[in-house]
This record gives sequence, C-alpha cells and structure tokens, in this order.
Amino acid sequence: MEHENAVMSRKKRIAVIATGGTIAGSGKIGEAGLYKAGTLSVQSILSSIPQIEELADLHLETVCSKDSNDISMEDLCAIKSAAERFEQDPSIDGIVITHGTDTLEETAFFLNLVLNVTKPVVMTGAMRPATAASADGPMNLYQAVALAADCKAAKMGVLAVLSDTIYSGRDLTKVNSIKTDAFEVGDPGPIGYMQDGRVYLIHSPYRRHTFYSRFSCPIPEKLASVEIFYVHAQSDPELLRYMLERYDGVVLAGSGSGNYSSEIEDIIESYEGPCTIIRASRLIEGAAFDSPVFDPKEKTIPAHRLSPHKARILLQMGLSSSCSKEELRRLFLEY
Ligand code: SIN
Repeated sequence: MEHENAVMSRKKRIAVIATGGTIAGSGKIGEAGLYKAGTLSVQSILSSIPQIEELADLHLETVCSKDSNDISMEDLCAIKSAAERFEQDPSIDGIVITHGTDTLEETAFFLNLVLNVTKPVVMTGAMRPATAASADGPMNLYQAVALAADCKAAKMGVLAVLSDTIYSGRDLTKVNSIKTDAFEVGDPGPIGYMQDGRVYLIHSPYRRHTFYSRFSCPIPEKLASVEIFYVHAQSDPELLRYMLERYDGVVLAGSGSGNYSSEIEDIIESYEGPCTIIRASRLIEGAAFDSPVFDPKEKTIPAHRLSPHKARILLQMGLSSSCSKEELRRLFLEY
C-alpha cells in the first residue's frame, strides 16, 4: 500500500521500446510518400513534442530500427525480453513500443500471447514519416505515453493507440494503406478513445492475454513452421498439396466464412499426414466456424474471428508448445 501511494504521488516513468517503422521514417521534407522507414531515433521524434515531459519521464531503448516487414523472431524475442525486464523494474510504470504499421497487428497479437506483464503495454506507429507535413507520429507517441502512464490500462493485454483510438492488440487490423486513420477492429469495436492526453475506456478485452496466457513463458527454441494458403477463384490445389508436405501447419485464408473449391476440399478430406490445417476467413468481419458443408470430417480447425495472419501466429505457438489437436481447438476459442 505504501509502495502504491509512493507510485501515485511521483511522476510516472515510461519505458519506450523503439523498433523503427514510418514513425521513425525520414525523407523529402514535407512529403508523405517518399521516405525510408526506421531511420530516425525516438529522441529526435520527442524533440517535436516537448509537452510529453509533463506526462512522464521517459526511458528510451532501441531494439531495432527497421521497416516492420523485416521484423524477425529474434527481434520479437528481444522486445519480449525488454518488456519483461521493465515489468520487473519498480521504477517503470508502463511500456510503449514504437513499430511500423504494416505488421503492427502481428507483433501486437504475438506479444499479447507471450508477454508475462501486468503493466500497461501500448504500441504505436505512424502513417506519415517524421519529416512529412502534419506528421501523425508525434501525437500518436504522445497519446501512447499518456495511456501507458494511466493505471487503468494495466492488465488489459497489449493495446495500441493510433489516430486518437485505443485498440486491443488482439483485434486491430490495418485496413488502409494511405490514410492516417488506418486501423479498424471490426465487430468488437475499439477499447476506447484519446482526447489529447486524456484516456476514455469503453470496454476491456475478453480473450486470454499476457500474464494469464499459457504462452507467457520463454519462447521455445525451435518453432513450428506455419504458412498461409490464400484461397481465390481457381487457386492451384497443387500448391496446397506442396504446403501440406512441407510445413507443420497451414492456415487457409478462405473466401467467405473460410471456404474453398471442391478440388481443395478433396485434398483436405483425403489428407492423413501430420500437418495441422486451420480454416480462417480472408474477410475482416464475421467468423469461420466448423463447417459440416466444407469440412464434414472436421479435418480443419476453425480460426473463428482471427485473421489468417493472426491464426498463423497462434497455431505456431500452439504447435511449438506440443498442443494436441483438441488443445489447439480450445486455443482458437480462448484467444
Ligand atoms: C513499416 O511498417 O515499417 C512501414 C510502414 C509504416 O510504418 O507505416
């Protein structure tokens, strides 16, 4: 209690883990399109938002400086280990992670599965480089720090703040390649909104995450190989046959509610090998459930609301933790 009172009366201290992305991008002054991601330090972005000092003292740590399309499993493990170190550090109250927007949702979902943390963890990024006219990164970073400094954001799993909106790391999806308001969550709706540095929460995430996730332990050294088969009209079924032979798991990015052609159905129905097949939908709303029509023998596991790329991550963690088929089915209901 004494410790809590002391924390409430002192200025908050937030750790900022930088990984690169457009938020740290630079290019032709004033232009939004021509730039290189991950070239500036967080320190240089902070110089344009001096008022951030009123919110919190910052501790900066750079894990990598990359376009997020190049984020590796080693980078993700380095983010996990930095965040868990800050969790153990009593002088740190919350954690912000700056990241490119292209794969932000994948890192957010992965961290939501594996971080053993209860302190607020808030990811952010930007659609315009720091050198663009009206860059969005400084405000996003300011609001991410404000949210991470708010104890109401504790035990909420990984959150993300972009464009005045608070998203759950489980649900957010990049839906626009140009606009600064580039993210959506579909049916669940946002966790809340920001107005300047003020936090308005609407609801809390329902699914398992972070400190009560079964994956919030060290990442296994050898991870299962899982890839995505994108279904479209006239998809080549031989490509799926090849993937089933080659990978430990395949996620079908199905049409509609996780559907596919009768040729693909035949391959799946007759498949008896060890590869685990997940049936996801390539649509951003709705869900893929068990399908007595497309998969009467239940050879596949439905991903429900998870996108194919998030289902890939959950399957990889499940297979790498030696989950049985029944446990894998449960994972897709619990996460
Ligand atoms: C990236 O994801 O690193 C580049 C694109 C962005 O941050 O918006």
